[in-house]
Amino acid sequence: MQTLYKNIRIVDDTQDFMGCVLVENGIVTKVAELIDEPAYEIIPAYGLYNSNFIVRDFTGENVVLMPAFTDLHAHFRDPGFTYKEDLESGCATAIKGGYTAVNLMPNTNPVYNSVEQAKEIENKAKELFGITVNQTISMTKDLEGINFSHLKNLKKDEILFVTDDGKGVQDDTVMKQIFEICNEKNITVMSHAEDAKYSATDMRKAENEMTARDIRLNKESRMQNAKSNTANLIFKSNLSSHLHFCHVSTKEAIEMIAQAQKEGFNVTCEVTPHHIFATDEEGNHYRVNPPLRKQEDIDALINAMQNEVVFAIATDHAPHTEEDKEQGAPGMIGLELAFPLCYTKLVRSGFLTLSQLVKMMSTNPSAMMKLNKGKIVKGMNAEFVIAELEQEYIIDVFTMASKSKNTPFDGISVFGKIVETIF
Ligand code: NCD
Ligand code: ZN
Ligand code: ZN
Ligand code: ZN
Repeated sequence: MQTLYKNIRIVDDTQDFMGCVLVENGIVTKVAELIDEPAYEIIPAYGLYNSNFIVRDFTGENVVLMPAFTDLHAHFRDPGFTYKEDLESGCATAIKGGYTAVNLMPNTNPVYNSVEQAKEIENKAKELFGITVNQTISMTKDLEGINFSHLKNLKKDEILFVTDDGKGVQDDTVMKQIFEICNEKNITVMSHAEDAKYSATDMRKAENEMTARDIRLNKESRMQNAKSNTANLIFKSNLSSHLHFCHVSTKEAIEMIAQAQKEGFNVTCEVTPHHIFATDEEGNHYRVNPPLRKQEDIDALINAMQNEVVFAIATDHAPHTEEDKEQGAPGMIGLELAFPLCYTKLVRSGFLTLSQLVKMMSTNPSAMMKLNKGKIVKGMNAEFVIAELEQEYIIDVFTMASKSKNTPFDGISVFGKIVETIF
């Protein structure tokens, strides 16, 4: 079976043109300005027919075809808090948002401490909903910040990431040893940088202090692992084991990351749509970790996107019920909001090209998850998203597939509507 996508604006990290894409059995086989169609039979009262070839002609539809998005950071709450989200509603909301791959955080109940637990939900997602789920496992057992013995039995290259997202590891000695193990086993550490000493009083200091500490400890661990071989310190590839910062939100933290990259360290980071879309004031002091910041922080984050200091845009999709929010639970949903918020704020206002946005929402995170997607080129999976860019519409949480409705962006006007996700 072949499908031809014809006369559509094709955008990935390196291309932006009107053309055609040919897909055979789920793999892109040709990308060009013009692709010939095979012969069709004429069947009376039916029209043109070719059982092996579907043509989708987008002439005049004013839509764009991009590689489907990949989210490095989402919470599906399955198991334990499935009243907020479960695998089924999580996958549905991902697909509606244009995502065909998500990396899930382990702060569930029970916590994902083992590869076996993770494999189960990953396989279920593929079988039942057809998208890629990578389930990240904890850095410390049950996210308690103490015991990391479960990491010692992992085989090299067995898993991609570990994280204690939601808390982070407070103890320096524990953190340093985890870095050393992860260097050996080629595991990327996803850091939720929050120094709990300052959480109650100064959330800016909490993020900045922990960002500085993690960079310092990661450097030290690499020196140790390299055993005087400084080559190991040098930025080789974002794909090998490294330190990755989740939801970076302050101008100081992004500056430290930029500096570490300049020195040659393999350190990456993600920024969320909400941290660039709204300041604390504009977001009505909506509770999220890290908190919404100031305009000067947004300016610094956008600048870091332009300079490729930011590797990916990740949603930190964090569903909570109304009751939980009233009790102070931090977080907001994001999978169905990410593209319109980013398109409106970053591309439509001229800060980034659509190709630059696609790179951070698809190409880069897909590469970090070692997926055969993220570009529209021969040999890659035909995982696409079709969006209508110039249609202005009002965000309405009640049209969303997530079980939770927690967002400060309900009712706002945006551009960039996801029309279809293909996988
Ligand atoms: C996340 C959650 O609810 O799990 N909340 C949040 O405010 N971001 C945890 C996290 O990402 O730190
Ligand atoms: Zn976090
Ligand atoms: Zn205020
Ligand atoms: Zn999170």
